[in-house]
Amino acid sequence: MLEAVLPPGVAWHETFGDPPGVELHPDEETALGRVVPRRRAEFTTARWCARQALSSFGHGDAPILRGPTREPLWPKGIVGSMTHCEGYRGAAVASGDLVISLGIDAEPDQPVPDGVLGVAALPEERVVVAGLLADDPVVAWDRLLFSAKESVYKAWFPMTGRWLGFEDAHVTLGEGVFTARILIDSPLPAFEGRWVAGGGLIVTSVVVQA
Ligand SMILES: CC(C)(COP(=O)(O)OP(=O)(O)OC[C@H]1O[C@@H](n2cnc3c(N)ncnc32)[C@H](O)[C@@H]1OP(=O)(O)O)[C@@H](O)C(=O)NCCC(=O)NCCS
Repeated sequence: MLEAVLPPGVAWHETFGDPPGVELHPDEETALGRVVPRRRAEFTTARWCARQALSSFGHGDAPILRGPTREPLWPKGIVGSMTHCEGYRGAAVASGDLVISLGIDAEPDQPVPDGVLGVAALPEERVVVAGLLADDPVVAWDRLLFSAKESVYKAWFPMTGRWLGFEDAHVTLGEGVFTARILIDSPLPAFEGRWVAGGGLIVTSVVVQA
């Protein structure tokens, strides 16, 4: 899935389950603390994916700790992102010389629960999504919009250190692509993204190239 949405120069790794025998770095173990097994599994496998991807930059043993707002802390000179959902874990990393920031997000290709779109979408986005769902139900467009915004946030945060609300970006969905126009003070007027759907999953990405 990630191969379809990432440009050359971005290293990635993904898995559709939790491989046996995968362990956390001891420092990550401390950072995670006591959590339910499901949370431990996603946290552990996504970091294993990240280390697989990081190995091409010589950082295959690096712990990936968390900053104050849960953002992943990458080795010096590296930018990256992780995502996990039922049946999927993935990570993407790149050299900071080539990529300023990136975000990836995976979601089940299913409608979002009732009420979510009311929070996550602008009124005009809701109108467009309703039309797409009626006319072209090839993907759960509402979930895709949600995922696009999550990828935007994951790319936005390392660049700004600031919160970006769902109401602060206007997303326009295209065929395999999307544009998020930022409605508040921003280093970029818009973030460009890509998406793919298959095997019951939606994966989105935003890569801000240098
Ligand atoms: C942080 C957030 C984007 C995570 O997305 P999610 O779909 O819930 O979960 P995912 O599994 O896809 O991603 C989780 C990973 O995101 C990463 N992440 C968490 N906070 C982050 C941040 N501030 N910046 C970048 N990445 C972050 C972490 O690696 C986390 O995994 P981990 O806790 O196991 O390390 C989401 O929970 C959130 O807070 N969203 C609100 C902000 C938003 O989306 N605004 C929309 C702007 S248009």
